[in-house]
Amino acid sequence: MDSSTKPLADRVALVTGGASGIGAAAARRLATDGAHVVIADLDGAGALTTAKEIAEAGGAAWGFECDQTKPDQVDALFDRLVEEHGRLDICVANAGWGRFGTFLEMPRRVWERTFEVNVTGTFAVCQEAARRMATAGNGGSIVVTSSSGAIEPVALFSAYCSAKAALNMMVKIMAYELGQYDIRANAVMPGVTETSMTNSLLDGDSRGYNEAESPLGRLGRPEDVADAIAYLASADSAYVNGAALLVDGGGSAYSPGWFGTDFRVRNSSGWTPRHQQFRFQDNGAR
Ligand SMILES: NC(=O)c1ccc[n+]([C@@H]2O[C@H](COP(=O)([O-])OP(=O)(O)OC[C@H]3O[C@@H](n4cnc5c(N)ncnc54)[C@H](O)[C@@H]3O)[C@@H](O)[C@H]2O)c1
Repeated sequence: MDSSTKPLADRVALVTGGASGIGAAAARRLATDGAHVVIADLDGAGALTTAKEIAEAGGAAWGFECDQTKPDQVDALFDRLVEEHGRLDICVANAGWGRFGTFLEMPRRVWERTFEVNVTGTFAVCQEAARRMATAGNGGSIVVTSSSGAIEPVALFSAYCSAKAALNMMVKIMAYELGQYDIRANAVMPGVTETSMTNSLLDGDSRGYNEAESPLGRLGRPEDVADAIAYLASADSAYVNGAALLVDGGGSAYSPGWFGTDFRVRNSSGWTPRHQQFRFQDNGAR
């Protein structure tokens, strides 16, 4: 396809959390569709690596280090983006962070960090993107990576699911308020997707259990979510605004969730992905 006829030709897209997983796949996909892609991540080296891979494949991409919980770093990212690329048409607010454990054991700092990264950090990115888009007057599309956990409770994910539910509401209100500027806001809600975030959860029996619980018989791939993000970023979704699109292979329509316990055993703290004994895993909040 001639580059000028690609669906996102001449569009500038920001993808946060693009160093790995879903964000990296979204950056690759948007670049394939012709967009100039700015990749921002706490992992600056990873963002540069994704950008380099895209450039080597013939796309246009740049990588920046940015911790979205630091307002000065978010401001600096947008200043540079507009200075170097002149415009912003698409914002994929995808960066996220999660730790899991029982509600009784959840440390306050893990709860707070979950909200700081996923809710406040995503708010900061979306607000700055919307401000730049509204000022420029060219409209735009904002896509937030939420989670199927925003609408389906997952045992041991109290902080994460609550944070993602907050994002779904934020997206609806962005859609409501920003439509007058031709800025659309939508969310994708991935189910269990194979990335570095879920690697440790898919050890042992857990992988087979989750595959068996998926109506499509497999886990999600980052590219599955990237395809949905590309749709919401493009003119193909011109009248889709305020939606939250499940990309979970139908898992939430059926699955009883990742973890189970035997509620006949009173005061049991044993949550099992099938046979595996599960206890709180705290890898430390950054
Ligand atoms: N993998 C899944 O099963 C799954 C399911 C539902 C939703 N999600 C969501 O998808 C998004 C992408 O996650 P992923 O699965 O690709 O995991 P991932 O760990 O591969 O990617 C997350 C990226 O976010 C970056 N990040 C973390 N904190 C940051 C911060 N403060 N500032 C900037 N960047 C930061 C990380 O460095 C990383 O590159 C997240 O929002 C996640 O919550 C993932």
